[in-house]
Amino acid sequence: MQLFIDSAEISEIKKAAETSLCDGVTTNPTLAAKAGRDYNDILKEICSIIKGPVSAETVSPDADGMVKEGIAFSKIAKNIVVKVPMTVEGMKACQQLTKKGIRVNVTLVFSANQALLAAKSGAFLVSPFVGRLDDIGKVGMDVVRDIKQVYDNYKLTTQILVASVRNPIHILEAAKIGADIATVPYSVFEQLFKHSLTDAGIKKFLEDWEKVPKKK
Ligand code: E4P
Repeated sequence: MQLFIDSAEISEIKKAAETSLCDGVTTNPTLAAKAGRDYNDILKEICSIIKGPVSAETVSPDADGMVKEGIAFSKIAKNIVVKVPMTVEGMKACQQLTKKGIRVNVTLVFSANQALLAAKSGAFLVSPFVGRLDDIGKVGMDVVRDIKQVYDNYKLTTQILVASVRNPIHILEAAKIGADIATVPYSVFEQLFKHSLTDAGIKKFLEDWEKVPKKK
């Protein structure tokens, strides 16, 4: 399963890139607002660090506006993927952008039916938001499981990008289901490396190493 970083913070993206374990980046208006810089500048910088897909989100309410924004984003770098929301207008934009050879990530997906429409519209990526479903007392991962089944049934090639990830359990569940990608906040990415028994093991080995006789 590929791992993307869900962030617009250059320092986080650089740290993730240094591990060579970050396959792409997703951004959205909320993350851009947190970063507090011009969105195009942020995207340009991210694309200079990460060679995999970098998602840039449109904000227009209508298909024409989304397509215009998408074309402009696609000129920033070859690896830009344009995010459109799961709406009727979003699907029109997805179809038009896909026809132009611009890859699309359909975002704000909360059901397998929505994911089916995204795939039929030619989406490159579909983003089910698991955390936001959990937040309202639903099981977000059930939607990912349903999408996987539907896509497998019809050999749909849209990749499932599990989004709104809150913890490492979401990532494990996504991998067990066979999702293609999980996009994760940098704090969760860091958590993946950690285990208390690993830390305790290193501590003990270092202590014991001090006791090993060494030639002068
Ligand atoms: C990624 O593409 C999404 O925009 C993001 O994962 C949403 O996460 P949130 O629900 O934590 O805002």
